[in-house]
Amino acid sequence: MIIQMAQPALDLVIAALEKMRETSDHLPRASRIVLARLQIVPPVAVSLLATPELREGGREASASPTGRRLQPASNKAELLEPIRERVRVCVKCAHLACSRTQTVFGVGNPDADLMFIGEAPGIDEDKQGEPFVGRAGQLLTKIIKAMNFAREDVYIANILKCRPDTPRGTFGNRAPTPTEMQTCRPYLVEQIEIIQPKVLVALGAVAVEGLLGMRGTMRELRGRWHAYNGIPLMITYHPAYLLRNQAPSEKRKVWEDMLQVLERLEQPISERQRNYFL
Ligand code: URA
Repeated sequence: MIIQMAQPALDLVIAALEKMRETSDHLPRASRIVLARLQIVPPVAVSLLATPELREGGREASASPTGRRLQPASNKAELLEPIRERVRVCVKCAHLACSRTQTVFGVGNPDADLMFIGEAPGIDEDKQGEPFVGRAGQLLTKIIKAMNFAREDVYIANILKCRPDTPRGTFGNRAPTPTEMQTCRPYLVEQIEIIQPKVLVALGAVAVEGLLGMRGTMRELRGRWHAYNGIPLMITYHPAYLLRNQAPSEKRKVWEDMLQVLERLEQPISERQRNYFL
C-alpha cells in the first residue's frame, strides 16, 4: 500500500526536479545520482517509513524490526536500472524511436575504473542491443584485452542510445546530428555520474563533440589528457578509423594513448605491452 502510494509521488518529484534543472536559471540542488537513488527506494525501507524509528530520524543504514542492519539500495548496477528503463522507452527523437530495433544502453561493469565512450550504435549493435559488437567493436574488444582487461571489467557506452537512421535500402552508418547528441547526452551524463570511472576514453571526434560539446581534429585532440567533470579523459581514434587505416603507425598511436590510460590507472605494464606495434 505504502509502496503503491510512494512510487507515483517519487516519480512526480523526480520529474519536477528534472524539469527545473532543464528549464530554470536556478538549479535545484539535486544531483542526478540522488534522483536515480530516489527511484529505487527499497520496498522494505518504504514500508519502514511508517515505523517510529525511521520517522524519528533514522537514515541510511537503520535497524530493522528483526535487528538486521538495512543497507540503502544504492549499488551502481541498481542505480543504472531506472535510467536504462527511461532509455528503453525514450521517444525524444521520434524519428530514431521509429527506426530503431531497440535502444543500446551500455554494457560492462558498473563499478569499472575505466569507461569507453563511442558515438552511436551501428547496425549490429541495433540488432543485438549491445554497444561495440560489430567489426569496430571486435577491434575495441581486442584493444581492451591487450590492456589486460576483459570487456566485462570496463564499461562501454555511446553518446547516442539509438542507431542513427539511414534511408531505407542504403548501407552504412551516418554520424549523429548535433541535435540528436544534445538530446541523448543527459543519459550518458547520468551513467558517468553513477559509474564514476577513474578514467574516461572518448573514441573519435564525434564522441568528443557529444561529450564536451567541442569540435576539433583528432590530430589536435588525441594523445593527451583532457577532463570531463573532473574525470581524466583520454581522447583517441575510433576503432573504425583503425579499420580504415591499417598502418602500424596509427595502431601505435592508439596503443600509446592506452598506455597512458594504464599508467593513470596504475596498472602494471609489461615490456611486451610497451612494445606493441613498434
Ligand atoms: N561505433 C560506435 O561508436 N559505437 C558502437 O556501439 C558501435 C560502433
